[in-house]
This record gives sequence, C-alpha cells and structure tokens, in this order.
Amino acid sequence: MADQTDTAARTDAPRATSNRSTTPHSDAFKEYISSNWAERTDVLPPAREEASFAADRRARLSAKYPGKRLVIPAGRLKQRSNDTDYPFRAHTSFSYLTGWGSDSEPGSVLVLEPHAGGGHEATLYFRERAGRDSDEFYANPEIGEFWIGPRPSLAQVAADLQLATLGIAELDRVIGSVDENTLVVRGADPELTTLIDAHVEAAVVEAEDEAALPTIAFSPAEGERDEVDESALLDQDLSEMRLVKDDYEIGQMRLAIDATRRGFDDIIADFPRITGHERGERLVEGVFNGRARADGNAVGYDTIAASGPHACILHWTRNDGPVVPGDLMLVDAGVELDSYYTADITRTLPVSGTFSPEQRMIYEAVREAADAAFAIVRPGIRFREVHATAMGVIARKTAEWGLLPVSAEEAVEPQNQQHRRYMVHGTSHHLGLDVHDCAKARRELYLDGVLEAGMVFTIEPGLYFQPDDLTVPESFRGIGVRIEDDIVVTATGAENLSVQIPRTADDVEAWIARSRP
Ligand code: GLY
Ligand code: MN
Ligand code: MN
Repeated sequence: MADQTDTAARTDAPRATSNRSTTPHSDAFKEYISSNWAERTDVLPPAREEASFAADRRARLSAKYPGKRLVIPAGRLKQRSNDTDYPFRAHTSFSYLTGWGSDSEPGSVLVLEPHAGGGHEATLYFRERAGRDSDEFYANPEIGEFWIGPRPSLAQVAADLQLATLGIAELDRVIGSVDENTLVVRGADPELTTLIDAHVEAAVVEAEDEAALPTIAFSPAEGERDEVDESALLDQDLSEMRLVKDDYEIGQMRLAIDATRRGFDDIIADFPRITGHERGERLVEGVFNGRARADGNAVGYDTIAASGPHACILHWTRNDGPVVPGDLMLVDAGVELDSYYTADITRTLPVSGTFSPEQRMIYEAVREAADAAFAIVRPGIRFREVHATAMGVIARKTAEWGLLPVSAEEAVEPQNQQHRRYMVHGTSHHLGLDVHDCAKARRELYLDGVLEAGMVFTIEPGLYFQPDDLTVPESFRGIGVRIEDDIVVTATGAENLSVQIPRTADDVEAWIARSRP
C-alpha cells in the first residue's frame, strides 16, 4: 500500500470492521478490480479567494518566528465508536494559515521551514490521491476512495491554495530533521506532537553528546519547559492574530449570519408542526440544521433549542422537550460555512406569537442591556466595558423589580454582584473560525484588551429565572431570555451584523405574525 511511513501508518491500524470484512482476496478479484479504469485527468482549480489572505497570515506569523520551524497539523479523525468517526474538523490554526476548511484532508500538516536568509518556506503535506495500483481504493474503509470518496492530487491542492504541496510520506524527512528550533501547535495532533517531541529530545541529547560538556549537566526538565512554553506561545500568537479579522473573514461572517437568518425564518414558519410534536425542541433543531444543510452549509456548534424552563439551562442541547404555547423558546444557533466561519445568534421567541406582559418586560430589559452595550462599542474602549455596560442594565432592572437584597449601585461593586444570580455568563466573546474564537489569547488582549476596528464578537446578555428560584415572583420562574447578536467594530463605532434578524419585542411578534396565515 502507498504511503507506509512513520506518519501515514498511524491511520492504518486495524479497526473493528475486520471481523465482518468480506473483501475478496482472490487473485482473480484483485486483477479484475485493478484493471480497466479511465485515465485520470488532473483539472487544476483556480486559486480560492482565501488563498492570498492565508498567505498574508503566514507572512505575519513568519515575521514573529525567525529561525523557527513551525509545524501546524490539521489533526486526525476522532473515533466516535468502533469504526465510526466524528465528522472531521481541521484545527483552527491550520485552516487559518492554509485557507483549507471543510474540504481539508485529515492528517495534513503545514510546515513553515525557516530560510537561512530570513522568512519561511511553507509546505503543505497531505495524503494525496492514491492510484489504482494500490488496493487502498477498495480495501481500506477508512481512507479508500470507494468508501469515503476521492482525495485531491498534490497539484490540485497546490493550485487551489497557492501552496507548495508534498505527499504525507515526505513528512518523515521533516520529522527526522527536527531540532530544538521546532515548534508545534500541540493540541492539533497529539500523536504527531509526541513523535516530534521524541525526535526533538533525541536531537538535543545528540547535540549534548557531541558538545561533550561533562561538568555542565543538561537539565532535560528545564529544556522541556522551554519547549512547552514556546509552543504555548505559538498557540497564543495564532489566537491573538485572529483577534482582528481581515476583509475575507468579515465577508464570510456576513454570509454565515445571513444563512442563519434563513434558519430562524424556517423555525418560525414551522411553529404549528413544532408545537404539535411531543419533542418540539428536536424539530426546532432539525429545521434549523436542515436549512443549514439545504443551503449547503453546516452548523458551528450544537443548536440550543430550549423551550420554557429549558431556556434557563445555558447550554441546553438535549433538545428533547415540547414547545408549549404561552412559553418562551430560546434558540441559539449559528450556520458555519465551508470556510468554518460561523455565526452565533440567539433569539427568544414567544411560542404563541405574543409576549405576556411579564415576558415582554423581561425581554425588553435584556434588549436594553444589549443596546446599551452595543452603543458604547468603538475602537479604543476595553472589551470588558461591553460586559460591564450590559451588567449595569441587568443590575438596574433586577433591583427595580425588587429581586436584589442591595441597590443596583451596590450590586455592581466587584465584592457584591448579586444581580449575576440571574445571568452567570459573560456578555461577549470573539467570533470567527471558532464560535468561541481566539480562546488562547492573553487576558490583556482579550478581556482586558482594547477594541480595534475589524474585531468581531457577540453581545449576548440574558436573564434566567430558574423554576425553583425563591427570590423571584412565581410568574418569573422558568422564564429564560437571551438576545445574541454578532458585532463588528468599525473605524468609528460598530455594526450589528445580525440586525436584520428581528430583535425588539414588537419586531419579533410581527415576524411571527407574518408567517401565520
Ligand atoms: N452558542 C454559544 C454561545 O453563545 O456562546
Ligand atoms: Mn455566543
Ligand atoms: Mn450563542
């Protein structure tokens, strides 16, 4: 079989299909299935739009790491059970630096090799299309063409991504030459990371032996720590590079949000079927995800379809409850495009079409918090001020309603925070390739960071009154509201990218009314 290398062989471990494999082994079969296939023509695609943006990103990374060999794996398939895997999702840093999203090949690795004269040469290693001269195409359920489809050729990917490409077997040469100047994005492919670590350690020991310094003992513990720290720095830098989005990224976010709007429209149009089903929440999820699929997309995270008291469970994804008229239903969902850019939108909908007076009061308080937070967004303010502003409104409202044992002014003091009982989560997170994007950025650049034009984040305040919360009137119990929009910072302020999805109580009611005969 092709590509039987250190790196490639790891995908060839026997899987649980072996006891039910019926693949014939006769010479007659092998000869027959291997013959009479049409010649393959290698049609080269044009460069994808993202290729030049990815090249700029690589150049920025290269400038930060002179003389370092940078290894950025895509990661591998993750087993779900026996011989079934989860859908493949390449590591975010890999996609960011290559432009390869949902069509990327599991096991691929981007290597930035330092030049002596400065800069780096980027090469993408992947398991290229296998020929019909191997038995892979029919006999390997994990990677064979008859089982999971054809892989692209090296030339096709090179043209598409505008990157030098080499077969995965060639990666062994890189692994064989790694030294202490090699940094790996460690979380992406643990097996490859371990392999590289072992080679780095061997290279360091060899260098020590050659230097033959018997009186100055090398301290492996110290060396290892340095290595870990530098690799952690690489992760951190890659997260921080993504804090400000380029034009391609913002364009993708607009498309993802527009596609998300269509999913919400479909949910509303399907309310009669949803309320008529004992597991209406499942239908909500199915309708949203179905629209994403019907449009050729995916979802960026598990859809939250939380009706009635389930809306008070922040990450309710079991979605197995009914959707009952008179209740509010919280839907938190986002379409993800092939590029992996995702939206993250929440709307809270009155199932019967209109809010009760109390539901409306709570809903509009949350909207006021969201609007107040949005109003202060502009370059130069700190990210944490967005949250503080929303929380000021939440404290004021909950104090006005008599829920707090202290005044709103006292509640917002760091040593108090009683109002947070009703909203324990943060108001905002960065958004992009990951729904919780830039997660490894330093606190001083994220939570304590200063906003810059091009940053994209959510504003998503909420109020959640648990069904057994004795501090709130009975009529509040079991009501959960969140309104989540996706924001881009502009040169002078901010744009709400999801403003076209109805968000005021009046507009939400009108939206539902429009869909009813
Ligand atoms: N959908 C997860 C979140 O809003 O952060
Ligand atoms: Mn969010
Ligand atoms: Mn969300």
